[in-house]
Amino acid sequence: MDIDWESLGFTYMDTSSHLRYNCCNGAWDDGELHDEPYVNLHIGATALHYGQSAFEGLKAFSCQDGTVRIFRPQENARRMKDTASRIMIEPVPEAMFLDAIERVVRANIEYVPPYGTGGSLYIRPLLFGSSPRIGVCPAAEYSFIVFVIPVGDYYKGDLAPVSAIVMDEFDRSAPLGVGHVKVAGNYSPGLRPSMSANEQGFPIILYLDAAEHKYVDEFGTSNFIAITRDGTYVTPASQSILPSVTNKTLMALAEAEGIAVERRPVAFEEIAEFAEVAACGTAVVITPVNRIVRGDTTIEIGPREGCGPVLKRLYNKVRGIQVGELPDPDGWTHAV
Ligand code: PLP
Ligand code: COI
Repeated sequence: MDIDWESLGFTYMDTSSHLRYNCCNGAWDDGELHDEPYVNLHIGATALHYGQSAFEGLKAFSCQDGTVRIFRPQENARRMKDTASRIMIEPVPEAMFLDAIERVVRANIEYVPPYGTGGSLYIRPLLFGSSPRIGVCPAAEYSFIVFVIPVGDYYKGDLAPVSAIVMDEFDRSAPLGVGHVKVAGNYSPGLRPSMSANEQGFPIILYLDAAEHKYVDEFGTSNFIAITRDGTYVTPASQSILPSVTNKTLMALAEAEGIAVERRPVAFEEIAEFAEVAACGTAVVITPVNRIVRGDTTIEIGPREGCGPVLKRLYNKVRGIQVGELPDPDGWTHAV
């Protein structure tokens, strides 16, 4: 194992093992660790044909006191249950989810980036229909896999701002569709637009509401957050965005600091009025967005370099709690 902890990006690498459970007739087994990163899957598995597949993303951190702590795993357990319910997957009980996360982190403890490197252990729970159906209906059997990867920044660098593009020719999710849950099928339709955005120099896409293209929904893999000129935290209310654990955390931290928080429809035109805008999520943490382009319109937001002051403060707070440098009064971190 020869890892340069300081220069990790967000890329796949093999670790010691992953954990795999199977569910047959509604009963989950006890799960087993596997060294080889492969599964033997039936060619008729519903996950492969009909996208009966869900995933989650959360992180574990090496802390100042030498412990390893997982950040808000109960939130991901609950969200995975909601996702499973929406696409008729046998749900993973919350206690089993939490135990699985802990087991896999313990089994790969040497892959948790050391304290002070800025890295973390990304945990990827994956849940899918594994038995065959050719008519469109739910599988009889399911697999629940949890694997881990040491990661650094998703985008280029620590709080370096990125430019976003609105592509009016693509939508992310329909108003009564599945944008509010973490199904695998929400991500492959984003591949073509994001490839095209990357080619034009935009690492991130901002999606608008599919019905009218009038309101901000979210970025492809993260929520939209903004700070108004009078210091209010604003984030879109929409039925087709993923309820982000990071956003929920930041809203709570903002409120604790006396910052007003508004969750409401955000018209695209309002972006020009914001003092700070960022993408937030487990993988991207807080990534400032200082330029948003839509056709001939370019909106510049906040400082040219780095992050605006309010989001920077919230970033420091959340990172501080995650790595045990700040108190955790709400018990968000879970020691392994
Ligand atoms: N929105 C989308 C579409 C996502 O894929 C993610 C990542 O999981 C998020 C938002 C952020 O959610 P969280 O903060 O729970 O990681
Ligand atoms: C996460 O932030 O955990 C995500 O799942 C985003 C991902 C699609 C890279």
